[in-house]
Amino acid sequence: NMIKRTAPIIVGNWKTTPETLQEATKFVKNLDKKCSSSKTKLPKKAYYIATSDIFIPHLAELSERGYVGSQNISGIRPGQVTGVTIPSQIASAGADFVIIGHSEVRKQGETVEERSHKVALSLQAKLTTIACFGEHTRDKNGNYLSELEEDVKKTLSLVDRSLFNNLIIAYEPVWAIGSKNPATTSECFEVVIALRRALASIAGIDYAKKVQVLYGGAVAPDNAKDFLEDGGVDGLLIGRASQDVQSFVDIINACYEK
Ligand code: 13P
Repeated sequence: NMIKRTAPIIVGNWKTTPETLQEATKFVKNLDKKCSSSKTKLPKKAYYIATSDIFIPHLAELSERGYVGSQNISGIRPGQVTGVTIPSQIASAGADFVIIGHSEVRKQGETVEERSHKVALSLQAKLTTIACFGEHTRDKNGNYLSELEEDVKKTLSLVDRSLFNNLIIAYEPVWAIGSKNPATTSECFEVVIALRRALASIAGIDYAKKVQVLYGGAVAPDNAKDFLEDGGVDGLLIGRASQDVQSFVDIINACYEK
């Protein structure tokens, strides 16, 4: 289940919503229907939904217009470890992709070493892997830029370069997540350049130019397209606005409008 990626990449991060499989099923059916009746020409697969692992097999089977994936995965080696799900398991259960290192996971104590193992194993399991980066706050001297670059280098330190083509980078400023205020497109652009610079130092300039980068943090139907046009990104990682069918489909349509 390798994903052939054509920009834009529109990823909904459902977090702990909805609370039941019944509601999630209804959502996906409704979303697919809205995608199919859209006036805008959408590709066959028009969205990504990161859901609870327990919903993945059912939703992956059900969804016709999108990809279904996980919000986090264990980077532990297969063996005698209790209570975790590893990338090969989630891939074989129907997941197409996984988000790694979301700030809400980092906050639970995930270390950069753990994150590096997670990215490495997810890519080995052939999952499209979205690795998240973002500063908590900004300082006037711009130190957050070099900190982010350092974070990228450490996170990818255990990853086999031959697998980099299935990696997506997400920039999610922590101060924008869950807030009313997204980054401006120029704030986004500046960081995306820094992230690409870090990637160039690891994998070369050609890779750094073509790697797909997402923006996340207070994305809404009325600002989504701006990031694609002026923010230097190839897609979006969306929390709240992906958890309502109409606003999610409004974002999808906005991104594909000519
Ligand atoms: P919001 O879109 O709700 O700000 O959340 C962003 C996010 O966490 C996506 O991963």
